[in-house]
Amino acid sequence: MIRSILRGTGSALPSKCVSNAELAERVDTSDDWIVERTGIRQRYIAGEGETTSSLAIEAARQALAAAGVAADEIGLIILATATPDYTFPATATQVQRALGCRGGIAFDVQAVCSGFLYALATADSLLRTGMAKKALVIGAETFSRILDWEDRTTCVLFGDGAGAVVLEAQDVAHDGPGILATRLHADGEHCELLHVDGGPSSTGTVGKLRMKGREVFRHAVVNLADVLSEVLSDVDMTIDAVDWVVPHQANARILDATARKLGLPSERVIVTVDRHANTSAASVPLALDVATRDGRIKPGDLVMFEAMGGGFTWGASLVRM
Ligand code: ACO
Repeated sequence: MIRSILRGTGSALPSKCVSNAELAERVDTSDDWIVERTGIRQRYIAGEGETTSSLAIEAARQALAAAGVAADEIGLIILATATPDYTFPATATQVQRALGCRGGIAFDVQAVCSGFLYALATADSLLRTGMAKKALVIGAETFSRILDWEDRTTCVLFGDGAGAVVLEAQDVAHDGPGILATRLHADGEHCELLHVDGGPSSTGTVGKLRMKGREVFRHAVVNLADVLSEVLSDVDMTIDAVDWVVPHQANARILDATARKLGLPSERVIVTVDRHANTSAASVPLALDVATRDGRIKPGDLVMFEAMGGGFTWGASLVRM
């Protein structure tokens, strides 16, 4: 059967790291409050010359090197972001230009923090129908540019970064590697709980991120536990079969609450929110790259990706490495 297999991963972070203590000099907050409520200790913030595309290009180059794939073999680039360099053209086309692989398919996907899951599922579909043979799927964000730095309830939660994977369509055995099952969902009913209050067609401005954190938290735990169960039931497995869960890194308490609801031991959850904070669409591929490079995730492991974000959008994907 034809499956999309994961050939390599990469990631990139801005050069500037900002601790909670440094943020506390700017807004009325404290290291204790942030660590206790979120698990976040620091975040990386893009400086001059660092953009969503520059981070995406670096992550893509690393993923290609890890995969042993040349840029000109890539026929499809899908980049998930809510913070593109420009309204258009798509940031994916800037990555394509920097890598020098012209002529293939390249476009952006906007599903906020679930963007990487949406991009992965779209790439998987296009690869399995033969539209391309090898793909780059990237999550890249500079949320620091849409934060209200006066609003302590949101500005402490987010960071910038990028993560990328190389996918390849291959004919594999039933128990072989690749993306085994994916579920995606959206529910526009709750858009006001997490949104940016601007855009080209409404205000003509970029806008700032607004969030009702407590309500988002409540929806996140329910939706994530449900979608993980759906994916597991699609492949007739239980959570015990899963070696690692790589969740969207929004908040350590959401990760703990979701794991508890599923009966998942916390040792099998990859956590990077302490170092990276919430990097939206970049967080799953960033965490995947960290855990692949430090040797925790190995070939043959069964890995679950999951995410929930503004919209709301949410999804999960089960992959044999
Ligand atoms: N420092 C100090 N105090 C603060 C801060 C801060 N940075 N932020 C809020 N507070 C205060 C509030 O003003 C409030 O004070 P009050 O009781 O005097 O009114 C108190 O702390 C409690 O505020 P809550 O918002 O009720 O705190 P809560 O325990 O819910 O934690 C948090 C807030 C961390 C935002 C939590 O609700 C959360 O993580 N929600 C999920 C958010 C999330 O993950 N969103 C992203 C998912 S989707 C995506 O990634 C885009």
